[in-house]
Amino acid sequence: MNYGYQGVVSIIDAMVDRHDVIVYDAESHACIVDGVRLHQGQRFMFKHNDMESCEKQLQRATRLVEKSGGGIFVITEGVFGMSGNQGNLKGIVALKDKYSFRLFVDDAHGFGTMGKRGSGTAEEQGVIDQVDLHFSTFAKSMASIGAFVAGPKAILNFLRYNLRSQIYAKSLPMPLVVGALKRLDLIRTQPELKDNLWKIVNALQGGLREAGFEIGTTSTPVTPVILNGTVAESTHLTFDLRENYDIFCSIVVYPVIPKGLIILRLIPTAVHTMADVERTIAAFKDIKANLLAGKYQHDQLVNAAL
Ligand SMILES: Cc1ncc(COP(=O)(O)O)c(C=O)c1O
Repeated sequence: MNYGYQGVVSIIDAMVDRHDVIVYDAESHACIVDGVRLHQGQRFMFKHNDMESCEKQLQRATRLVEKSGGGIFVITEGVFGMSGNQGNLKGIVALKDKYSFRLFVDDAHGFGTMGKRGSGTAEEQGVIDQVDLHFSTFAKSMASIGAFVAGPKAILNFLRYNLRSQIYAKSLPMPLVVGALKRLDLIRTQPELKDNLWKIVNALQGGLREAGFEIGTTSTPVTPVILNGTVAESTHLTFDLRENYDIFCSIVVYPVIPKGLIILRLIPTAVHTMADVERTIAAFKDIKANLLAGKYQHDQLVNAAL
């Protein structure tokens, strides 16, 4: 597919009609939310990773589809990109014993990084065959553009003819397709890349925790560093990191998260080194001390660098 966002929107749109019910995780990515918005039937949201809530919504959905003759489409993520938490795929799959539904997993952050072969979070949790549709963008571990969906042949053939954004838009340029095939080959044949990624992840997350940083409950390479500060402070702080420490990372601030919180999202890669990890932890100690001392309240640092 051309992009992950558009791919997910169109997959959801194609997979359901007004007789069907969607059940989805409350912290789903915007592309899932937007795909769900296109749905003309009922949709039920379950509390993030909460299997009791998921089961309750499956019960409501089951009552509805028994009348409508439709099906239930459950959607979650393999790795939640803000927290680094894994979706509870195992828990959802276990509910298949009691309820009839198809499971769609957006594994944007898990593909290439999770599981023995890098197949993703479902492989990591031992439920690869019980997930009906696997999705990933090529924009994370593959460092490119594009996306794929994988699943049973019959569903994929159906999607080939029903994904509106693939049919009514230009397709992925061939150089990107060839590049994606090469990257897939690297994931398959060079497991040392993933091994190095995890060496870096463990060193970075361990080092940050040891230095007293709050990094939540991540169990994946996504590494959120949670600090307290204003939106203005967060921009001065990331500017300082970029200009004076040569460290680029994205920030998450209000209104995505509550006022007063700053999340610096670090994405370790297979080509980072242990020296990069040490440098990052040292820089983070500096910027945390600056933040606590109120140095980012004004824009002197920005002006000095300009
Ligand atoms: C969970 C998730 N799904 C989908 C996407 C969209 O992928 P793309 O950037 O290829 O549109 C992203 C990332 O941006 C994502 O994090």
